[in-house]
Amino acid sequence: MIVALNNKSNLNIEEYKKYVEELSKIYFRGKLILCPNYLNLTEKVDILLGAQNVSPYTEGAHTGEIAASQLSAIGVKYSIVGHSERRSIESESEIFDKIKRLLENGMSPILCVGEKQNEREKGATKAVLGKQLSSVVNYLTENERSNVIVAYEPVWAIGTGLIPTNEEINEAISFIKTKLPNNKVLYGGSANEENIDTLKEVEVIDGYLVGGLSLKPDKLQIFLDKLS
Ligand code: 13P
Repeated sequence: MIVALNNKSNLNIEEYKKYVEELSKIYFRGKLILCPNYLNLTEKVDILLGAQNVSPYTEGAHTGEIAASQLSAIGVKYSIVGHSERRSIESESEIFDKIKRLLENGMSPILCVGEKQNEREKGATKAVLGKQLSSVVNYLTENERSNVIVAYEPVWAIGTGLIPTNEEINEAISFIKTKLPNNKVLYGGSANEENIDTLKEVEVIDGYLVGGLSLKPDKLQIFLDKLS
């Protein structure tokens, strides 16, 4: 079981130091991946690290970008790509370039996919997921594909306290697994220490990508205990 912690744009360096002290006491038998903001990523911690974004380019004249090679050089093994909070300013081809740069540097992309509320209402969930997965399905080798983790994050469930029914999650993730049968698929969107009792009944979920919960180590520990 994988649990990835997306701190988003939270925690200044002093707050982060206290936070990782708390986090270091967490016990979990699965794989915990911490994705702090870029500045905090440079702090030494004894937890697997992921970035929240990466440049679609190799290093060079790209002001404001952080290249996969630079992340890899400080021991970062993962990066979230295509998070819905970024997708409005990113094209599918840019997201694919980010995935390629990560793979070239021996890192694993955590590719976020998910439908918006209106897309679900129109019955377009699978069409949206299929489109967001198509470059990975069509243009990566099997070997490259095996390093990709997918996170199913329905946009309407992120930070809202709303979650899909178990049947809806099962249907979406099972669909993703028809496209990528050998990949781990996480669920993300308002997962917390209370709804995990229900969520964990969905057998196709290989782990979770949590936002708000990642900032509360005490509640995170309850969540992880219930998962084990
Ligand atoms: P919340 O867990 O706060 O809903 O955020 C989910 C998310 O966006 C993780 O990437």
